[in-house]
Amino acid sequence: MDRIREGRQARKEHRVIQWSHQKFRDAGNYTQSFNLFHKKVIVTAEPANIKAVFATNFNDFDTAGRLEFIGQVVGKGIFTTDGEEWKHSRAMIRPNFARAQVANIDAIEVYLQDMFKLLPSDGTPVDLQPLFFGLTIDTSTEFLFGESVHSLRGDEPGKPSGVAFAHAYDTALQQCAIRATQPPWERIMGQSKEDLQNCRTVHDFVQRYIDEALRWRRTWDGEAKALPTGQYTFLFELVKETTNPEVLRGEVLNLLLAGRDTTASLLGSMFFQLAKRPDIWDRLRSEIAELSGAKPSFEELKNLKLLQWCMKETLRVNTIVPTIIRNANKDTTLPVGGGNDGKSPILVEAGQMVFCQTAVMHLREDIWGPDAAVWNPDRWATLRPGAWDYLPFIGGPRVCIGQQYALTEAGYVTARMVQTFSKLASRDAGPWQEKLTLTCAAKQTNVSLTRA
Ligand code: HEM
Repeated sequence: MDRIREGRQARKEHRVIQWSHQKFRDAGNYTQSFNLFHKKVIVTAEPANIKAVFATNFNDFDTAGRLEFIGQVVGKGIFTTDGEEWKHSRAMIRPNFARAQVANIDAIEVYLQDMFKLLPSDGTPVDLQPLFFGLTIDTSTEFLFGESVHSLRGDEPGKPSGVAFAHAYDTALQQCAIRATQPPWERIMGQSKEDLQNCRTVHDFVQRYIDEALRWRRTWDGEAKALPTGQYTFLFELVKETTNPEVLRGEVLNLLLAGRDTTASLLGSMFFQLAKRPDIWDRLRSEIAELSGAKPSFEELKNLKLLQWCMKETLRVNTIVPTIIRNANKDTTLPVGGGNDGKSPILVEAGQMVFCQTAVMHLREDIWGPDAAVWNPDRWATLRPGAWDYLPFIGGPRVCIGQQYALTEAGYVTARMVQTFSKLASRDAGPWQEKLTLTCAAKQTNVSLTRA
C-alpha cells in the first residue's frame, strides 16, 4: 500500500521513472519484488533478466491480461493477444513491414504542411507535443485506412468526424490507462456510459473503411494490382489475407495503438531536448544543409548521423515505453537478482508479474556512465551498447515491427522542421517532465520558432 501511495504521488508530480529509479538505488539491487494487492510482483531493470523474459524464456511469459484492459477499445490483434493467436497475427502483419520504405514520405509531407500552418513563426510560444499527436494520428490513419482523419485540419462538411474519432480514441485509451492502475475494487463498476460511447464512436468510424476494403476485395482477382487508394494501404493489404471484419478492426486498431502515440512521444521529447540545446540545433542545420533544401529521401535520412544520434539518445533518456509488463504462465526463473549478493537466479512462480523497466535501465550510471541522465547525442559517436542494455523497441520474438517506420517518420519530420526554422528556443523553464499514459511523452514542449 505504501508503494501504491508513493507511486500515485510520483505520478501526480510527473516523476514516476525518477521515483522507480530511486527505489532500485535504495535497495542496491536492480531486481526487487513486492506485493501488489494479492499478487507478488517482480520489478527489474537488469539486462540479463529482461533478455530472459523476452528471449531465452519467451514461452514462459505472456502479456499479462492486456486484452482485458485495452480490448474494449482496440479488440484482439497483434498487440493484445498471446500464443497461437499472436503468432497468427504477427505472421499476417510482419510481411507488410518487411518493405524497407513502409513509411510514405510524400504522405507525411502533406500532413506536416498542415501542422506548419498551425505553428506561429513570429516567436509566439507553442506547445509542440499535442501537435505531434495530431500529426501522427493523421499520418497513421492514412497509412492504415487509406484516408486520413485530418485532425489537424478540422472536420470537413458531409464527412464523418475525424476530430470526434481522434477525441473518442484518445479519451477511451486514457480511460484504459487509468483502469490499469486501479486496484481491483475500484474496477468493479466497469466501463462508464461515456466510455462505452467512446468505444462505439471508434468502432463505427473504423467500420466504414473496413466495409470499403471488403467491397474492393470482392472485385479483386488475386493478382497484384493497384489499390484503390493509389498507394500502400495496410487495410487493403490485410483484406487479401482475411475478410473477417472483427479481425480486420482488431488488427488495424492494434497497429494504430502501437504506432501513433509512440512516434509522437519521440518527437515531443526530442524537440524538448533540442530546444534546450541551440548548439545541437545549429549543427543539425549544418548537417541537413547538405541536402540544399531538398526533401530528404529514405536513404538520405539514414545517413544524417547527428539526426540519428538525436533520436537514439531521446529513446534512451526519455524511453517511450518505459515499463513492459509480462505474466509468468508457468514456474520459471530469472538469472539474476537473488541471493545475498543479488547475483543468483530467482524463482518466478506461475501467475507472477514481471515489470521490465527499460526506462530505468537506460538511465543506470553503472551502464551508461556518471552522466547517464544527461541528453548528449554525441555519446553515440563511439558508444556501442550491449545487445540487451538498450531496448527502446524491446527485443526477441515480440520486437517492435514498426521501428523502421517510426524512425523514418520522426527523422523526416525533424529534418523538415530544421529546414524550415532557423531557430528553436525552449519556453519551458524547468527540465523535461514525463506524461505517462500507455506510453511516456513530454508533459509539454513549449517552444518558439523562427522561420528560416
Ligand atoms: C518511437 C516509436 C516506437 C517505439 C519506441 C516502439 C516501441 C515498442 C515496444 C517497446 C514494443 C514492445 C511492447 C510490448 O511487447 O509490450 C513495441 C511493440 C510493437 N510495436 Fe512499436 N514502437 C514504436 C513505433 C511503432 C510503430 C510506428 C508501429 C507501427 C506502425 C509499431 C508497431 C508495433 C507493434 C505491432 C508491436 C507489437 C509487436 C508484437 O507484440 O508482436 N511500433 N513497440
